[in-house]
Amino acid sequence: MNEVLGIDVGGTGIKGAVVDLSTGKLLTERLKLRTIQPATPKTVAKQINELIDLLDYKGNVVGIGFPAVIKGKHSLTAANVDSSWIEFPIIDHFTKVLNKEVFVLNDADAAGLAENTYSKSITQKGLTIFLTVGTGIGSAFFYNGELIPNTEFGHINFHKSYAEKYVSNFARESKKLSWKAWGLGFNEYLEHLDFILRPDAFIIGGGISKKIDKYEKYLTVKTPITPATLLNEAGVIGAAIAASKKMVF
Ligand code: BGC
Repeated sequence: MNEVLGIDVGGTGIKGAVVDLSTGKLLTERLKLRTIQPATPKTVAKQINELIDLLDYKGNVVGIGFPAVIKGKHSLTAANVDSSWIEFPIIDHFTKVLNKEVFVLNDADAAGLAENTYSKSITQKGLTIFLTVGTGIGSAFFYNGELIPNTEFGHINFHKSYAEKYVSNFARESKKLSWKAWGLGFNEYLEHLDFILRPDAFIIGGGISKKIDKYEKYLTVKTPITPATLLNEAGVIGAAIAASKKMVF
């Protein structure tokens, strides 16, 4: 299976493209629809079907990255999407409504898988913490190059709330934080992760990764930090990888 449709569901946008798995390149343009609010099982499936039509995808397999913990056939959490996804039979739902063979994984795990497969930015020795910083904060852990799925380090306790409420890109934009104010908060978050997890590398993905020149001067954490290289395409590519390998979490 060399050509698979990858979908990346986010709180703000739903993206899709057909991926050539032999190269990791996109075979179609990457289309993006603004996520209908509230993002319920019905509306998200409708929008994915719309992407399938727009991309004229005739294949039978679809990979979907989704912003929740995915265990077996269920989504267990819901952040930045409607709460009806909590403890929801996500795989059976999409299989039925899309009428395709469907594989679903956490969106940050998907983006990390893509980096690990095609960009090799993730070190094959020790612990790499990959963070997607966008509407929320997602995490993907790799130990000796192997994914440890479903970590939720955007949700660790932070300033009487949890981390993504303070240091996601959404928080930066909605609170109109300067790069300095946001960068210092993000550094505090990284220092905390560094202290409790002792990683060998941090990789920063998501919308904020391409703006690293604006905030890297505020990052004092000793562990090396590098921006992801696949940028906006990582989620879609990783979802296609997971589907092509028939990965179940
Ligand atoms: C969710 C994660 C997701 C991340 C990025 C968080 O709010 O809990 O599952 O990976 O947002 O979308």
